[in-house]
Amino acid sequence: MKLIMLGAPGAGKGTQAAKICEKYNIPTISTGAIIRNAIRNATDIGKQAKSLIDKGLLVPDEVVIGIIKERLAEPDCKNGFILDGFPRTIAQAEALETMGISIDKALSIEVPDEVILDRLGGRRECSECGATYHVHFNPSKDGDKCEKCGGALITRPDDCEETIMSRLKVYHETTEVLKEFYENKGKLVKIDGDRDVEEITKDVLDSLD
Ligand code: AP5
Ligand code: MG
Ligand code: ZN
Repeated sequence: MKLIMLGAPGAGKGTQAAKICEKYNIPTISTGAIIRNAIRNATDIGKQAKSLIDKGLLVPDEVVIGIIKERLAEPDCKNGFILDGFPRTIAQAEALETMGISIDKALSIEVPDEVILDRLGGRRECSECGATYHVHFNPSKDGDKCEKCGGALITRPDDCEETIMSRLKVYHETTEVLKEFYENKGKLVKIDGDRDVEEITKDVLDSLD
């Protein structure tokens, strides 16, 4: 099963991808997580990406396409994968096709912009394993430590209001058109993402059965 998660920043792509991953045991590949890791390790890609990610702008296509090519070549991807945050441009979607990858479904988690600020303002991310929490909607049972690994929970630097606005703008101007791209291929599934996590997960999993 080869899936794509579409949706605005904070729509819940990562949250729902984790549920699919649990049920189907296929890896989630988040380009955002890979880039943040590269920034932490100060690699060439990390140095190039830092100022862009901090402003809420996209990292250049050739960089993320390179990241995805390398990642999809790893053995754990051979039975399928969930792409979370890739593709984000038409050029990236076309690159997947050029690589000979035919995806099964593109799930678009639909959430109005007004809801996004609350979600991202309260998000906390594990600095060790990347697990995602929310101070109100999905708090860690262990307070400011990750339930899964004990790592410290942090606020992502791009979750400040100014950067969230810029990410939303980029989404509407550049990424949202991918819904049409996959709709034209008969692969788009729209899911109402403005509900409780569990209700959304039910629809997501039903759409894959
Ligand atoms: P990326 O890491 O992909 O960030 P994003 O798209 O902005 O999405 P988020 O991770 O912020 O949100 P999400 O949809 O995963 O929501 P989550 O589940 O966490 O990308 C970051 C940056 O990297 C980009 O801006 C860009 O610079 C660069 N980049 C990455 N990929 C790229 C590419 N392909 N090309 C170019 N540049 C690229 O949920 C959000 C919060 O809400 C959490 O706290 C969660 O607990 C909570 N929540 C989730 N669902 C619900 C619900 N139903 N009700 C209440 N709360 C909920
Ligand atoms: Mg995410
Ligand atoms: Zn953790």
